[in-house]
Amino acid sequence: MPFQPHMLIPDSFQFGPSWAAAPNVSRIEAPSPRADAAGYAVAESGPVPAAIGLKRGMLNAAGFSGKVGQTLVLPQAEGPVIVAIGIGTVDALTAATLRDAAAAFARAAKIERHLATDLAAVAAAAGLDAESAASVVIEGVVLARYRYDELKTKPETTPFETLELVDAGGGARGDAAAGTAVAAGIARGLTLARAGMLARDLASAPPAYLTATNFADFALEVGSQVGLQVTVFDKAQLIELGCGGLLGVNAGSVEEPRMIQLRYQPAGESTGHLALVGKGITYDAGGLALKPGNAMHAAMKMDMSGAGAVLAAMTTLAELGCTNTVTGYLMCTDNLPSGSAIALGEVLRMHGGTTVEVKNPDAEGRLVMADAITLAKEEGVDAIVDIATLTGAALAALGTAMAPVFGNDQVIVDQLLAASAATDESLWQFPLERRYRELLNSDVADLSNVGGPHAGAITAALFLAHFVGETPWAHLDICGPMMSDKDNSWRSKGPTGFGARLLAEFALAYRPYPLVE
Ligand code: BES
Ligand code: ZN
Ligand code: MN
Repeated sequence: MPFQPHMLIPDSFQFGPSWAAAPNVSRIEAPSPRADAAGYAVAESGPVPAAIGLKRGMLNAAGFSGKVGQTLVLPQAEGPVIVAIGIGTVDALTAATLRDAAAAFARAAKIERHLATDLAAVAAAAGLDAESAASVVIEGVVLARYRYDELKTKPETTPFETLELVDAGGGARGDAAAGTAVAAGIARGLTLARAGMLARDLASAPPAYLTATNFADFALEVGSQVGLQVTVFDKAQLIELGCGGLLGVNAGSVEEPRMIQLRYQPAGESTGHLALVGKGITYDAGGLALKPGNAMHAAMKMDMSGAGAVLAAMTTLAELGCTNTVTGYLMCTDNLPSGSAIALGEVLRMHGGTTVEVKNPDAEGRLVMADAITLAKEEGVDAIVDIATLTGAALAALGTAMAPVFGNDQVIVDQLLAASAATDESLWQFPLERRYRELLNSDVADLSNVGGPHAGAITAALFLAHFVGETPWAHLDICGPMMSDKDNSWRSKGPTGFGARLLAEFALAYRPYPLVE
């Protein structure tokens, strides 16, 4: 066996380190003696909370006006560090700005292990749903404190251990309804935050660590913890199934491919059947169309972010009480050049029989996705949503702040846009412009895998649409927001885990037919 970098790594290495170690969250009337940072919400106008101990004029003089994202750290002679957390104007407070404020607090207190804040209670008092307020505060704090330290011999960051949701009013003092809502919000927030961290853990793992085989082993382990049924298809089984897309992309690799099928079955009667398909390219070198050795190429260990988001989202479904059946397909391989790699001009036969001329082996994502889309269709699912780091064109068009969403069914697209608003993982609808379909014509096969120099995100979506046929479907091209080049609110520098929370929210809300009143 050739040398692989991970061979010298101790057995203690974990694929999902933060998945294994989620912080403790509780609700409490006042910060406990253990708290070493206590954050209090301060709006742009109105009274300053007494715990801050300063008048507004003094806060202003220190450059703190209460805008969302602003914080002011106030050390005390004894007790926890006090942090003023800007929440903007109370009227304009939303789940997204609350999450941002919580993230700003977590970053301001980044050297502290035990945090306490009244953000959720203040937001609930201002009219936000108490459950969702607790949830987004947890998401903001936990995701902002995320670091991938697994491969550092000495961790550089202070581990974050506890979060106290301070509620001097109803929630903590026995108002039963408020207490139940906050408890539900804590469970929900922790579940969603863990999913976000799991997606980041997976995308952070270097190529030789997270091979397709290791991905499958890890999915089996995580799946068994959260009650997912996990079925792994190895190379021989993929040959049997005729998955020419996944096998073709894998042809240049010494590693075997894996298709990982995840199944979530609700406890009661199922309200629908949803398929989630994730691109799981564990490393995209471009195949024989080798990518240049630049920063973009160096980010290609994250080319499995779609598959990571699907696995992470599916870990939440039991906990969040999803009533749909959900089947996930993680299409995993690396894309490498070698003597056995797929040649340019080669023709692949996909699952279902469609032939594809590979004009560019770097357009590999759509090849692996096509097999899964056909398999999902054969399952008779009510809808398919796929998520993939598919095209640099999506990044060029929308940058890193949002991802294009395409679909053949406006109801699904609208449901995804709603989930996107709830999780602040921004989507922007792009047209599935059928006039560009002819760009995918091939002289020798049914389809070409590339559509020419223009509208690359659209032609990639049209390629997938060919396999989807009539099934309601939407496609997320997350190439842009899959990573952040700096700490930005709850997005920590590096992989963002984009899509994990969004797909979880979507899977919860999804119903096969729009409700007709
Ligand atoms: N994985 C890449 C897309 C990508 C680029 C993801 C940057 C994240 C950051 C994808 O497989 C790819 O190489 N796409 C090609 C398609 C082209 C050959 C039609 C691209 O976008 O250049
Ligand atoms: Zn790729
Ligand atoms: Mn590629």
